Amino acid sequence: MKISFSTISIPRSGALAVGVREGRKLSPSAEKIDKKMDGALRRAVRAGRFHGRQGETLEIVAPTGTGLSLLIAVGLGKAKDLDRLKVQALGGTLVRKLNAAGVRQGAIAVDALKGSKLSSADAAANLAYGATLGSYRFDRYRTKERPEKKPTLRTITVMSASAPAARRLYGPMAKVAEGVTLTRDLVSEPANVIYPKSLAQRARALSKLGIKIEVLGRARMKQLGMGALLGVAQGSVREPQLVVMRWNGLPRGKAQAPVALVGKGVTFDSGGISIKPSAGMEDMKWDMGGAGVVIGTMRALAGRKAKAHVVGVVGLVENMPSGAAQRPGDIVTSMSGQTIEVLNTDAEGRLVLADALWYAQRRFKPKCMIDLATLTGAVIVALGEHNAGLFSNNDKLAQRIAAAGAAEAETVWRLPLSREYDKAIDCDIADVKNIGNRSAGSITAAQFLQRFVNEVPWAHIDIAGVTWSKKDRPTAPKGGTGFGVRLLDRLIATHYEK
Ligand code: BES
Ligand code: MN
Ligand code: ZN
Repeated sequence: MKISFSTISIPRSGALAVGVREGRKLSPSAEKIDKKMDGALRRAVRAGRFHGRQGETLEIVAPTGTGLSLLIAVGLGKAKDLDRLKVQALGGTLVRKLNAAGVRQGAIAVDALKGSKLSSADAAANLAYGATLGSYRFDRYRTKERPEKKPTLRTITVMSASAPAARRLYGPMAKVAEGVTLTRDLVSEPANVIYPKSLAQRARALSKLGIKIEVLGRARMKQLGMGALLGVAQGSVREPQLVVMRWNGLPRGKAQAPVALVGKGVTFDSGGISIKPSAGMEDMKWDMGGAGVVIGTMRALAGRKAKAHVVGVVGLVENMPSGAAQRPGDIVTSMSGQTIEVLNTDAEGRLVLADALWYAQRRFKPKCMIDLATLTGAVIVALGEHNAGLFSNNDKLAQRIAAAGAAEAETVWRLPLSREYDKAIDCDIADVKNIGNRSAGSITAAQFLQRFVNEVPWAHIDIAGVTWSKKDRPTAPKGGTGFGVRLLDRLIATHYEK
């Protein structure tokens, strides 16, 4: 789907969307088309339950007096309440409606609204952004879909009083959307397609954007002493990979330590010998969601040529039971030198991250380090799918992450870390055990990670509840959400860009 920007003019054909504020107040473009229709839009708006509340829609097919095939009135709510996120949601809602109606070409009028805090360029760009994110679809494997079910939209024209400014603002947003799309694709792919080597290959493809890629295989990881990560991988026939991605867009003479992003990339988590129940096990194809977010973020940053220094490190393994698999009770030695008693082979993400985190901080001496992982079922119990769990050893970093998330509709909620929780993973025969007792499972998992973090400001985001959605939302259709890419991109844009 192509997006273009233009000045406002009522098209003679195709589909048109116009805004209506709460209280059935027509926007200027709505007024104009209503005149052509002899007041039929106003009558239609009054005839039913449509009030112009945010996100409501009313469709009129082939309105007389116009050459349009479809007119959609979309509720804007109150002008003063409209913000970037609400406009994005409107964009998402509209593409969905246009596609459902079989429209090929749609025009959306973004009128300047009195009392709105958004400029018309900002509104138009965000509407386009929401439309792009909302039009995502993973349909690679649908070979027999009926044509009438397929999305039809080819182009959307976003019309506003400031088309050139809107186009300029939308440029970098489109790049971030490409990052989100990549992440969604990666988490949606099944585990017979995305496994450590093929995922590393997808990351490698980013080198054409100027990202430096290195891939470490089993032998190199063995040399480095990554016994924790390798222990998880040893039950699988798929060779594990550690992928390092570096983007340095800092201006010359402004050298600076990088921000490190670390991702859990378990391409399939069967649980290993501590095997999971079969119902729902298919969800564990998206247990590489953290790695997916790191890869998507790198793409977004390089795509929009961010003036920042960022390294991404993802640990890619498949967690399988087999004659070669790690057993409960095994003791492994991590790259940090700490020994770990593996009491449950299904608590594998923390083992992978232990070595990936250690490697990232040792090699890159980052100014801060953020890891993302679909780490615990417990975080879904605690926070559901509306917030990711945030853990940090640094209040400033935690606040920055929370603010970036709020600005991008990727909200996080901080949970505590403390010595009391840490005691739960003390071990009688090794330095640490990989599970706690039954309580506070997300926190004890984070405590485990913290044992592999030194003085650096660090945050851990547990995205188990937010990586996959069973419900359609305006800017995130059901399936892989890409949650985290927008948050990280904004965090970097706001605080780490020169
Ligand atoms: N990948 C899972 C966590 C998960 C569960 C993510 C459901 C998304 C949806 C993780 O590796 C895991 O299995 N965690 C265990 C830890 C337990 C054994 C201490 C869990 O949460 O049950
Ligand atoms: Mn697991
Ligand atoms: Zn897992």
